[in-house]
Amino acid sequence: MSKILITGGGGYVGSMLSTALINLGHEVTVLDLMKYDQGSLNHLFYNKKFKLIKKDVRDIKILRSLIKKNEYIIPLAALVGAPLCDKFKKDAILINHKSIKTLVSLCTKKNKIIFLTTNSGYGVGEKNKFCDENSPLNPISLYGRTKCDAEEEVTKAKNYICFRLATVFGFSYRMRTDLLVNNFVYKSVKSKKLTIFEPHFRRNFIHIRDVVLGIIFAIKNFNKLKSNIYNLGLSSANISKLTLAKKIKKNMKGLKIKIITNRKDPDKRDYFVSNKKIEKKGFKARTSLNQGIEELITLFNVDNKKVINNY
Ligand SMILES: NC(=O)c1ccc[n+]([C@@H]2O[C@H](COP(=O)([O-])OP(=O)(O)OC[C@H]3O[C@@H](n4cnc5c(N)ncnc54)[C@H](O)[C@@H]3O)[C@@H](O)[C@H]2O)c1
Repeated sequence: MSKILITGGGGYVGSMLSTALINLGHEVTVLDLMKYDQGSLNHLFYNKKFKLIKKDVRDIKILRSLIKKNEYIIPLAALVGAPLCDKFKKDAILINHKSIKTLVSLCTKKNKIIFLTTNSGYGVGEKNKFCDENSPLNPISLYGRTKCDAEEEVTKAKNYICFRLATVFGFSYRMRTDLLVNNFVYKSVKSKKLTIFEPHFRRNFIHIRDVVLGIIFAIKNFNKLKSNIYNLGLSSANISKLTLAKKIKKNMKGLKIKIITNRKDPDKRDYFVSNKKIEKKGFKARTSLNQGIEELITLFNVDNKKVINNY
């Protein structure tokens, strides 16, 4: 069993990952300011192998001592998403980029970094062409830029694996309804109608359970995968916004889809992504969009808890 530090481990991805790693018997320390859902890790406090440190990742003293004590380092703490980074530009650069630079400088050859970045670095893809890990990076938001800069820092480390993630969907202990699939299902359930602009924009998606399984696969196969960058997404979920809306409608009879033609999506991402590199290494995301949509419909029908998004 390994000692694992997860920064941002109380967040959307982190709270699910921390739970899975504790269930597997690992020793998990989370460093997180717990900005959004204060209770997302409460269910782990019973376990002696779990520790939460409610501090800022920019606190070098604490970061140094935690990196020393842990083998695996999974830096998830970030200001996530374009709107939040535009609102807090300075902090976005300091947390998303500069603190990763510091983290890498504090790591020695005994540390193994597993870093998540976004595939939004690909920006606008070419028609009918799939972006792979060698496609030029062309981030169109400050968020995308800080994540690409951070990825570059991580690739200077001795031992690292980077995953460029598709847009994640599914339930988490710290829920987000600003992510595209979660958002469309949330609106569909709450108002029985869905308005879409720029319906042809293409994206790749992945269920949160597959993100967690992908990271567990990386821990188990670190040496086989290390010193590489991989796209991580569900290959059958390279679809347009309109196709996504139609998939939701299949599960929700009576849903009205309205397409707005005179409004632009500030999020200009438009691309298909190839996940072949990680699939060839032996990991394939499997939870279907349909399964995720059904799960989210049930969730939003029974749960009226107010979700605090990032912005
Ligand atoms: N969710 C996605 O679709 C997605 C896609 C690609 C990449 N990622 C990456 O995965 C990581 C986690 O994203 P998420 O969706 O879980 O976001 P999230 O906002 O739910 O989690 C981020 C966590 O970081 C913490 N945090 C922020 N600033 C901090 C600071 N200065 N010190 C300590 N903690 C701080 C927050 O409290 C929060 O718990 C991010 O690095 C993000 O870029 C997410």
